[in-house]
Amino acid sequence: MSTIAPVIDFSKCSLNKNEDEINDEMRMVTGKNLYEGFTSSGFVYLKNHGITQERIDGVYKAAANFFALPLEEKKKSYVGKNSFGYDPVGALKVNSKKDFDFVEGFRVTGDAFDDEETKWPNLTLKKKYEELAESCKFLVLRILRSLGLAMRVKDLDSFCNCHSLMNKKGNLTQLGVTSYPPVYEDIVRANRFRLAPHVDWGTMILLFQDNIGGLQMKQSNGEFADVTPIPGTIILNVGETLQKFTGGRLTARVHRVVPPTDPNKQRLTRQTTVYFGHSNKDFPFKSFEFDDDLNNKDFLTEYEGMTTGEFMNMRLTKALHY
Ligand SMILES: [Fe+2]
Repeated sequence: MSTIAPVIDFSKCSLNKNEDEINDEMRMVTGKNLYEGFTSSGFVYLKNHGITQERIDGVYKAAANFFALPLEEKKKSYVGKNSFGYDPVGALKVNSKKDFDFVEGFRVTGDAFDDEETKWPNLTLKKKYEELAESCKFLVLRILRSLGLAMRVKDLDSFCNCHSLMNKKGNLTQLGVTSYPPVYEDIVRANRFRLAPHVDWGTMILLFQDNIGGLQMKQSNGEFADVTPIPGTIILNVGETLQKFTGGRLTARVHRVVPPTDPNKQRLTRQTTVYFGHSNKDFPFKSFEFDDDLNNKDFLTEYEGMTTGEFMNMRLTKALHY
């Protein structure tokens, strides 16, 4: 299958291995592959990551059951405290210059995972979200350590440890499932996006796609190209915070979701699960130092002095409309 990005084999650092079974040589080989993939293609597919399909499917099914409920029922879980809950169609606008996104979603942040008063719609959804979020946390940490090692981040411990509160209070890391309802001719004729062009805002983003397709990534030539689903892989994407942390060595790529061109597929719901990895809220929005010959690219300097949490809240405020 020809794809626009490489499939990186993560077996040397897989979650199937204990931490003490992985050495720096394994991390270096894996990290170099990740770095080359990110710099040449903007994103990568990850295989042999060690998260079981059962765990991925568990969230998919629990969320699909929730989205199938009548709107009146789903409204009981409208997003409120801790940025937790249900976003109906019309709530999200990832690109402030475009129309609202044609999606509904259910999201859980670290603050919500860590709050006993969080009102989950049902216990199955809670259990499945918690299990997958836990796996994703460890995977993000292993990705960052191998990538940071290969990129020669001077303070590798800080680069990883600034994510210590993922899925806990004090960190905006989010596990969300997005459901794209069926589209009809009027939407397609109007050239409406399912999700408008945007970049992600956190550090490392893990995307679990279904087989419907529609995700497109902007290429260096300015054209958008299809990100074909590959079963068993996770798509890794770089967010603006990681772009800042790496001084522009890695860049957040613009991506979007368009309706399928096949009319039969347009009638199908697309559903994706995304883990948006973030650094802890109080960690500064800054570039790390690297032991290499590359210069930092000057960008996003207007946000220096902010914490990464303040940067994120600024982005979120623009994206969400109630
Ligand atoms: Fe995105």
